[in-house]
Amino acid sequence: MSTVVIVGTQWGDEGKGMVVDLIAQQADMVVRYQGGDNAGHTVVVDGQATKLHNIPSGVLHEGTDCVIGDGVVINPRVLLEEIAELKNRGLLGGETSLRISRRAHVILPWHMDLDRAADAAKGDRRIGTTGRGIGPAYQSKMGRTGLRFGEFVEADTLADFIHCAIGEYNALLDFYNASPLDPVSIIAEYREYAEKLRPYACNTYRLIGEAVRAGRKVLFEGAHGTLLDIDHGTYPYVTSSNCVSGAVCTGAGVGPRSIHKIYGVVKAYTTRVGEGPFPTELTDELGAKLGQVGNEFGTTTGRKRRCGWLDLVITKYAAQLSDLTDLVITKLDVLDDFDEIKICTGYEVDGVVSDEMPAEAKNLAKVTPVYETLPGWKAGTCELTSYDDLPENAKKYLARIEDFLGIPVTIISVGPGRNQTIALKEYFD
Ligand code: GDP
Ligand code: IMO
Ligand code: MG
Repeated sequence: MSTVVIVGTQWGDEGKGMVVDLIAQQADMVVRYQGGDNAGHTVVVDGQATKLHNIPSGVLHEGTDCVIGDGVVINPRVLLEEIAELKNRGLLGGETSLRISRRAHVILPWHMDLDRAADAAKGDRRIGTTGRGIGPAYQSKMGRTGLRFGEFVEADTLADFIHCAIGEYNALLDFYNASPLDPVSIIAEYREYAEKLRPYACNTYRLIGEAVRAGRKVLFEGAHGTLLDIDHGTYPYVTSSNCVSGAVCTGAGVGPRSIHKIYGVVKAYTTRVGEGPFPTELTDELGAKLGQVGNEFGTTTGRKRRCGWLDLVITKYAAQLSDLTDLVITKLDVLDDFDEIKICTGYEVDGVVSDEMPAEAKNLAKVTPVYETLPGWKAGTCELTSYDDLPENAKKYLARIEDFLGIPVTIISVGPGRNQTIALKEYFD
């Protein structure tokens, strides 16, 4: 079997897009299985950055089939913009190179308006969502009132659906003092989107299942990060989908035995966008330096990312939840110029140190991180292509991570470019 899963082990933005692009060089198919356009995955090839929100990050490789699976929520306008941009650049071929599940759900205008209005109304308790309508769209799905992609593209049922649903959503928008929406203009706009997206609609479970069974190389691209997972993350400061590797099964329509290798992407330090507890956050000049050297601004919202030291408590938690087989360490180069580098290996609460992840956000906010301090390497790594050439202290940093987690580091990234990576093992084996 030749399947690989990529998951984020922190609060997102670990560099998953870059890793997917790298491994997709050898993949036959890349599948997104959860989340929506709240994801922002950056791929840099020959100095040119491509930012992807809906479309799998394998799209830059000709001949790689891209699939958007059952568990994804889709914003048709954003998706069409992405398709148009990629087509303009000659990067997306005929309709068959992108397939979209008929079971995926559609994000509608009221989802976006409600997301923004409801989060703003929370005041101090706001989540700081991306405002893309993700929470409300998954609420509709779970409440069994959502619009699935298959029904959406059959435009004859669209008008009926919008007319039936609009009353409830306009009442909710009114509750938040937001403007009501006009069903007639939504129908006209979304009919046009449906027309353009119809050729991509597909029963993707068959396509994926056949590829897996035939031994084709299939790469499952996770979005967000483990600590943003709806069940396992820092609830309620999370997104509304499952971000752990198990979500591949429900979100792509494959069984657990179809999963072979699971890469956890670990940024060499930690970042977070939006609200919520972050034990190793640095609000001093060291945090500012990480943000500046790492260029830590959100791909989707442009917001400044909060920065801090690597937290191995959360990474260990992520490793267990997703059964990681391999680690990818990204942005190692960002640490090139630090005298000392800290790693959090435990949380202290009332004098007791533990590496257990508290279930409640308010309890996580109370922990004091326990650090190990390692010497920096004070040398440039971004042009290195072999593990042997890494500075000794960089090797020690990586070894400590491997040792603590008990999982091998098999890919190291030292820059945003496709070629700025050191691979220690075959991706599909
Ligand atoms: P994703 O959401 O996990 O795909 O990550 P993002 O694309 O949102 O954010 C990661 C950012 O770091 C992007 O701008 C990447 O181009 C960049 N990046 C990825 N790997 C490296 C690396 O090893 N070093 C540096 N300096 N930048 C990297
Ligand atoms: P990628 O795939 C970083 C965060 C938001 C917010 C919370 C809820 O690029 O790693 P939502 O709009 O999902 O309801 O927002 O989740 N968030 C992300 N942070 N990277 C992401 O995706 C994120 N997706 C959601 O900032 O705090
Ligand atoms: Mg991102």
